[in-house]
This record gives sequence, C-alpha cells and structure tokens, in this order.
Amino acid sequence: MTDPRTQLVGAGYDQIADYFVEWSGRIEGDQRDRWRRALAERLPDGARVLELGCGAGRDTRLLAERFRVTAVDISGEQVDRARANVPDAEFVQSDFTRLELAAGSFEAVAAFYSFNHVPRDVLGDLFRRVHSWLVPGGLFLAALGTSDTESWTGDWLGTTMFFSSFPPETSRRLLVEAGFQLLLDEIVTTIEPEPDGEGQWHWVLAEA
Ligand SMILES: C[S@@+](CC[C@H](N)C(=O)[O-])C[C@H]1O[C@@H](n2cnc3c(N)ncnc32)[C@H](O)[C@@H]1O
Repeated sequence: MTDPRTQLVGAGYDQIADYFVEWSGRIEGDQRDRWRRALAERLPDGARVLELGCGAGRDTRLLAERFRVTAVDISGEQVDRARANVPDAEFVQSDFTRLELAAGSFEAVAAFYSFNHVPRDVLGDLFRRVHSWLVPGGLFLAALGTSDTESWTGDWLGTTMFFSSFPPETSRRLLVEAGFQLLLDEIVTTIEPEPDGEGQWHWVLAEA
C-alpha cells in the first residue's frame, strides 16, 4: 500500500497539473538542461533510461530523442499529460519507492525535482533500490532537496503538498552507502515565482 504521505503528493500533483507546468516554466536559474546533458553525453544511443517522477514529461521528451525511456509518476493527471507529450516513451503510474524491477535493467536512472517528495526515512532504501536497477557502471542523476526537513505538509501552489529532505552531507553519505561513486555534486540555487522565492537543490551525478 502506498504511504499516505506519497498519496498526498500524487493527489496534489493531480490537482495542480496544468498550473505546475506553467509555474515551473517561470523558475529562474533552473539548471536541468545542463545536468540532463551531463548524463546524456555519457550514455550511448538507445540506452535504457528510467525516469522517476516525470511529471508532464518535460525532460522525458528530450531524453526519448536518444534513449529508450521508461518514466514513472504517481499522479495520473501528470502521466496522462506526459503520454500525450511524449509518444515515444513508456509510462507507468506508480509510487517509485515501491517499484519492483529486475536488477541491472537500466543504464541510467534520472529524477528531476522529485526526490524532495520522498519521505526521508525511505531515501536510503530508495538509493539502494536505484543502485540495484542499474547495470554496473550505470548512472544516477538527481536533483535532491537540501534542507534538514523530516516532514513538511502544507499549502503549496494551491494544493496540499508533502516535502522531506536531508542536508547534502547526509544525502552524499547515503548514496555512498548504497554503493554509488559521486561523479558530479553541486548545490544550485533557483528563484521560484511563488511562494517563497528561493529554492536550493543538490544535484548529483553518481555511478553505480
Ligand atoms: C516537482 S514535480 C517534477 C516533475 C518533472 N520531473 C519536472 O521536473 O517537471 C515532482 C513529480 O514527482 C512525482 N512524485 C513524487 N514522489 C513520487 C513517488 N514516490 N512516486 C512517483 N511519483 C512521485 C510527483 O507526482 C510529481 O509529478
């Protein structure tokens, strides 16, 4: 059964599906293109890529130009939009913390701004699962949260949302404990249109 905190995230993104796309397009300083390219340039054409928390498919569409992409999101409304936006990828509506996937089935796993919705008590386990889904030497790209927040639930963009994250030093330790070697690791600040302006992200590119 899906964790109630994650159910809340899915219901929230169902509710704000269109507004989220518009809002996120107005964020200043978003470095997703640079990080997606850092992943893509290390992968051969046709590589199997798993995207966790794909939303409406903004990065999925670009990844699917060169790779075989499987994209997961818990929000049915987001998956519907992503399917319409990216006919060339495979989509799964599911809680990615509960996915059962064969070991070594992807050359890369990518998560753009979704892991800050993962309850941090399951983050270490999720890193271990991601590691197991990758081939040896496979790559993991993620924009993680940076604040020391066990649990935040409240009004966000007109819905109720849940956030959770560790500070970067804890995320780094959990990644290494899961078996990853960090290749790139950077803190990036963005300016969000609302509600509170500044966002901070811990981007990592790690090798299994
Ligand atoms: C901030 S949005 C980012 C969407 C997209 N990656 C982008 O950058 O435009 C986070 C997405 O992750 C999804 N998500 C969060 N936790 C999830 C989980 N445990 N399983 C599946 N999807 C999840 C949400 O439903 C939402 O669509």
